[in-house]
Amino acid sequence: MKTKVLLGLLADQRIHSGQSLAEVLGVSRTAVWKQVQRAVDRGFPIETLRGQGYRLTRAVDLLDHETIVSALPETDRSRVSLRVFDSVNSTNAEIAEARRAGDTGILVCVADMQSAGRGRRGRDWLSPRGENVYASFGLTLHGGFASLDGLSLVLGIAVAEALESLGADSVQLKWPNDVLVAGAKIGGILIELQGELEEGRVNLIAGIGLNVHMQDAPGIEQAWTSLARAFPAVTWQRNQIIAALISAVVSATERFDAQGFEVFRERWVQRDFLVGKALNALGGELSGVGVGVDGQGNYLIDSNSGRQAVRAGEISLRVES
Ligand code: ATP
Ligand code: BTN
Repeated sequence: MKTKVLLGLLADQRIHSGQSLAEVLGVSRTAVWKQVQRAVDRGFPIETLRGQGYRLTRAVDLLDHETIVSALPETDRSRVSLRVFDSVNSTNAEIAEARRAGDTGILVCVADMQSAGRGRRGRDWLSPRGENVYASFGLTLHGGFASLDGLSLVLGIAVAEALESLGADSVQLKWPNDVLVAGAKIGGILIELQGELEEGRVNLIAGIGLNVHMQDAPGIEQAWTSLARAFPAVTWQRNQIIAALISAVVSATERFDAQGFEVFRERWVQRDFLVGKALNALGGELSGVGVGVDGQGNYLIDSNSGRQAVRAGEISLRVES
């Protein structure tokens, strides 16, 4: 919390003397120096200018509960229960924990960093502090497990449309769970089930990772990008992005729960990254050309033995190189 106040004072990116900061914060100059060191250790870009003071070398985009809530449409404000964390293991795990503790309704959790961010099939999701959006939603669907087919596609549409409403363009979707810009991965969606099926009711956790300011990504072996890299002319603010995501996810999930995937199909197909590409599925057992998705959200491939539908779940599609 102290760091947040310090960063607020430095937000104008001008030089602030240790003395002036000490006065405003009501602490000694040594305490200011210690706070600055702590903030630097946590990755905040504060420069110390000898004999002058401290300066932020670039704008810092802090997460703030109130800013997110006030950017939400009135109708969504009272419906979602939002928690903003400094650091978590995984925002998906936080939602699971909140549910176990008895929280109900539409739960949303965002964090400034994740120490164990995860992707599909136990893969790691790079989650550096302050750079990106890490958001998870606790949602409930009513159509049994079958209703889950298509959900990650619907959430992909929600993410793409939210980003486009803020100034991105040509956001594409790679079946089943990747969000791409210019062929590079900018985000991903991870859906996990929680608990047992009760009268067709499925409790699930939908995690969305979205690269916002990230400029370096050690260890990511596939093409990746971030909003700041892909759309440098837009000033990207994580609070605004999170508010847009919440609105889009809540309304898309509600419609999906009531009407299924078919009503979303066209919106997904328009963003299909794999269409017309030579593809391999099932570790090479199936190959052919991508032709979009069916009304359940299965991916369709035209192969030598005719049109085949590939179900989501544990399958990856690879573009033939
Ligand atoms: P598929 O699901 O079709 O196998 P995939 O190779 O993208 O696609 P996922 O499990 O969806 O695999 O995503 C995890 C992968 O995403 C990681 O193995 C890593 O290559 C990449 N990755 C990890 N963190 C990020 C990030 N912040 N931005 C972009 N890509 C990332
Ligand atoms: C993927 O492409 O494999 C999905 C990546 C999902 C990452 C998000 S970040 C917020 C939430 N918490 C996690 O640990 N994972 C998801």
